[in-house]
Amino acid sequence: MGARVPLRRREPLVQCGVAQAVGTAESGGAPDRPTGGAPERLQSQAGMRGGRIELVGLEKRFGDFVAVAGIDLEIAAGEFFSLLGPSGCGKTTTLRLIAGFEQPSAGSILLDGFDLVRTPPHRRPVNTVFQSYALFPHLTVEDNIAYGLRWQQGLSKVDKRRRVGDAIALVRLEGLGKRKPAQLSGGQQQRVALARALVLEPSVLLLDEPLGALDAKLRKALQHELTALQRDVGITFVYVTHDQEEALTMSDRLAVMDSGHVAQVGPPREVYTEPADAYVADFLGVANLLSVDVRGAAPEGGWQVELAGATLRAESGAVDGPGRAKIVIRPERARIVEYGLSGENHLAGMIDRLVYLGPTTQVVVRLPHGDTVQVLVANTDDSVPHTPGTAVTLVLPCDALRVLPADERLEQPDDAAAAT
Ligand SMILES: Nc1ncnc2c1ncn2[C@@H]1O[C@H](COP(=O)(O)OP(=O)(O)OP(=O)(O)O)[C@@H](O)[C@H]1O
Ligand SMILES: [Mg+2]
Repeated sequence: MGARVPLRRREPLVQCGVAQAVGTAESGGAPDRPTGGAPERLQSQAGMRGGRIELVGLEKRFGDFVAVAGIDLEIAAGEFFSLLGPSGCGKTTTLRLIAGFEQPSAGSILLDGFDLVRTPPHRRPVNTVFQSYALFPHLTVEDNIAYGLRWQQGLSKVDKRRRVGDAIALVRLEGLGKRKPAQLSGGQQQRVALARALVLEPSVLLLDEPLGALDAKLRKALQHELTALQRDVGITFVYVTHDQEEALTMSDRLAVMDSGHVAQVGPPREVYTEPADAYVADFLGVANLLSVDVRGAAPEGGWQVELAGATLRAESGAVDGPGRAKIVIRPERARIVEYGLSGENHLAGMIDRLVYLGPTTQVVVRLPHGDTVQVLVANTDDSVPHTPGTAVTLVLPCDALRVLPADERLEQPDDAAAAT
């Protein structure tokens, strides 16, 4: 365990804030990865350090119900790792298992190689920040932050005051230490809660939808703040969200969860551009998912698939061979060209409808067999790019087409093929 170094950061924060904390924590060693804009004090004097987490066959059952169904995950020291998935997929349960608020039904949780399962929550170097602030209303900002330090042995009053001051500076709440929570904005209250978690210097911070209660603009600002802060302090963040954009923009890596399972793990770009299956493609944002027949491997590489009587080539895929499958293409990769043009992966279609989205227009093209494909067209001038009812040629470039195993759960009515 390294000597304690006060929490410090260099980058200015925008005016707003973050979350709620429980538990106690210890500190240790040096950051394991480049800390970006980390303050010199942290870089030069082995201070806060992120812990490495391993979940091995982690399972949690509530009676007959399986909430976490055997998860295997490794989260590197100092990583910003997100658990992403729809409501009820087991994100909070996974965090609660790591925090020690729930006992696993099977499997183990290792922190820097040590099994935590028998360690009570207050002895784990892990803190949790929740969506609700849960600050003590009768205590000042300073006293709320200092609350967790009460049980820390061997800390003098002066040390405690200094640590609280450091945490306040870290979340940019200078000058507000004497206020009560009711005298703060929602964003500021969340910062108090975050400071309350950070003052204990955990090696792992668990964050459960900490920005969920904030309006869109504040949320965006805080996303940026949180990632900068995480880089600065070097603590491992395990961040739970059901917002795919949030997970994609903030994380070093993310796990997409589905009914207690991990469907895919990887860096945001990889998971977005190379989804392992249709569930991940669908959950990670706007994707056209179309049912096709895989004919076999294409001589030029990739797969030959049949869609609406036309043979297309998809350069990448996660299938084993011929059969029913899905193809996925992002709306920003599909193109619309003049009717009658021919070439590889060109299909005849009809403009169905247009939705103006500001910088882009969403153009829905209907194929002869009824499927629709959504295309994003940049609004580079004032003209309407296409008119409903016009015949066009749809181009699905082969390097943008990916074949995925068919997923019955995602069978949709024709019109919803272009997911929104
Ligand atoms: N104590 C409990 N007893 C019984 N079932 C539970 C318990 N806690 C959670 N569950 C169930 O486990 C499943 C996963 O819950 P969890 O809270 O982990 O979901 P989540 O992914 O965090 O969802 P959300 O995005 O809505 O917060 C849900 O179906 C939930 O009802
Ligand atoms: Mg939850």
